[in-house]
Amino acid sequence: MNNRKYNAVITAVGMYVPDKVLDNKYFESIIDTNDEWIVTRTGIKERRILENGATSDLAAAAIEDLLKTKDIKREEIDAIIVATVTPDMFFPATACLVQDKIGAKNAWGFDLSAACSGFLFAFQVGSSLIECGTYKKVIVVGADKMSSIVDYTDRNNCILFGDGAAAVLLEPTEDKSVGLQDTILKTDGSGEAFLNMRGGGSLNPPSHETVDNKMHYLFQDGKSVYKVAVVGMADVSYEIMKRNNLTADDVAYLIPHQANLRIIDATAKRCGIPPEKVTINIDKYGNTTAATIPLCIVEYYRSGKIKKGDKLVLAAFGAGFTWGSAFYVWGVD
Ligand code: COA
Repeated sequence: MNNRKYNAVITAVGMYVPDKVLDNKYFESIIDTNDEWIVTRTGIKERRILENGATSDLAAAAIEDLLKTKDIKREEIDAIIVATVTPDMFFPATACLVQDKIGAKNAWGFDLSAACSGFLFAFQVGSSLIECGTYKKVIVVGADKMSSIVDYTDRNNCILFGDGAAAVLLEPTEDKSVGLQDTILKTDGSGEAFLNMRGGGSLNPPSHETVDNKMHYLFQDGKSVYKVAVVGMADVSYEIMKRNNLTADDVAYLIPHQANLRIIDATAKRCGIPPEKVTINIDKYGNTTAATIPLCIVEYYRSGKIKKGDKLVLAAFGAGFTWGSAFYVWGVD
């Protein structure tokens, strides 16, 4: 147990996924693929797509959903951190647009870019703001409109991603037995070559050439990423359990990033955690990047599966490379 006065605890949650569903049959009509390949290789059956609007709309809708369940005034929100790789624009930050949309007039905020590990990284940063005692109400939201950077002619990648957002409200507690207990967060920038979007930034400012070369789309060498992700996510989950003396029996749920069911299964196996203790939503939403983990949290909490005192292990792997894990004890009824 740490010496801090406060732990950060999630006291409310919210989510938003768009209504429009793209199922695997749809992809059969636009690329050379089939439902059986997609399901067996990835675990994905369908994903949601935002037709009108941007990432700030997804994030704001998730926070509105959160606020319906929590009796706080919008002016009480101190800070908003938006984890995303699909910001509305380079600047201002999506967090500023969200702050305006939800009317949190006393909040400051910023975006955090760590791809599929974005929520985990933002969760640590948001918790630090609470733990230091300076802030009382911090919202961390994972939000991505992946459909805005996916090339729907690239069959290797277009089947993988969906749009969505989910948010948590962090508040301080003096009860050290609950809230965020530990994190292990890692980056390895040599992984840039395998998963990136190289066009549009200062390296390759937008031009006819960047567009002609499809550099404004997500690029992924899926096989290479798979090999690193499957080891990285499993190792870091095992490591956080070991250093917190957690056995598989102690853990109520492993909450892994949802990129590929086979990566999730390998992570669970390495930690000795049985399938019924692993949260899954990849079948419904695909890879929603920064939103996968908080979407799992919201759905499993709201359906009564996550309960007060439950020990949770969160794990993610994404572009950068970035990866990490967290040990969290659920703190509210
Ligand atoms: N439908 C049908 N066939 C497809 C296909 C599709 N949508 N996409 C690729 N294929 C083909 C390939 O062309 C390849 O054919 P070939 O053997 O004739 O060349 C074959 O299927 C196998 O492709 P491969 O890349 O080896 O498949 P895979 O088992 O590695 O699965 C991914 C591909 C993308 C699902 C997998 O690599 C993956 O999940 N990668 C990691 C994703 C991830 O974790 N990202 C990190 C965070 S975002």
